[in-house]
Amino acid sequence: MIIAIDGPAASGKGTLGKRLAAHYHFRHLDTGVIYRAVAKALLDAGADPADEARAIAAALELDPEKFGHPALKARAIGEAASVVSTFPKVREALLTFQRQFASEPPGAVLDGRDIGTVICPNAEVKIFVEADPVVRARRRTLEARARGEEVDEAVVLADILKRDERDRNRPVAPLKAAADAHVLDNSNLDIEAGLKAAIAIVESVK
Ligand code: C5P
Repeated sequence: MIIAIDGPAASGKGTLGKRLAAHYHFRHLDTGVIYRAVAKALLDAGADPADEARAIAAALELDPEKFGHPALKARAIGEAASVVSTFPKVREALLTFQRQFASEPPGAVLDGRDIGTVICPNAEVKIFVEADPVVRARRRTLEARARGEEVDEAVVLADILKRDERDRNRPVAPLKAAADAHVLDNSNLDIEAGLKAAIAIVESVK
């Protein structure tokens, strides 16, 4: 079984994906980390994330061992990731890895922006997680502070809105709910309640 979770920045899809995977003993892939790894490779090399040729080269050279590195969560990397992810050839270079991950037993949960629409259009379960931008900014701010980053909540909100706008309006694989996705509004749910709602969705289609 494949569970596809999509949604905007800081909607809680990553935490939900991880918990859902643990519940079903499935593997979990936070696909945002892949785009962040490409972005970080460019930033580390002093390159501009908007440099398409460098972004494509970085995506082709990407080392999957680096996924999940906590340093990838920094705000500047998220912003650069949303720039590199607009390039169709960057997305293409990362597609096989994601589909391969999804197809291996016993089952997988992938979260991102285009899992239900492009990466796994045949996923048995598709969940589109939404949450009020103010709530999302609050959560991201608390996460950043817990990592020791000094952040201003208003700046985090502006960042989130800008990133969502870019992700929703790009011509290739934009952020949107698949026609057959179940929408889960996470604004007023804590982690446990969100997980419960997601399990109810999975059970309803099983
Ligand atoms: O989910 P996360 O905030 O880590 O994603 C960082 C950026 O990577 C997003 O803003 C988006 O532009 C891009 N991304 C994407 N497709 C995915 C996952 C992430 O374009 N499946």
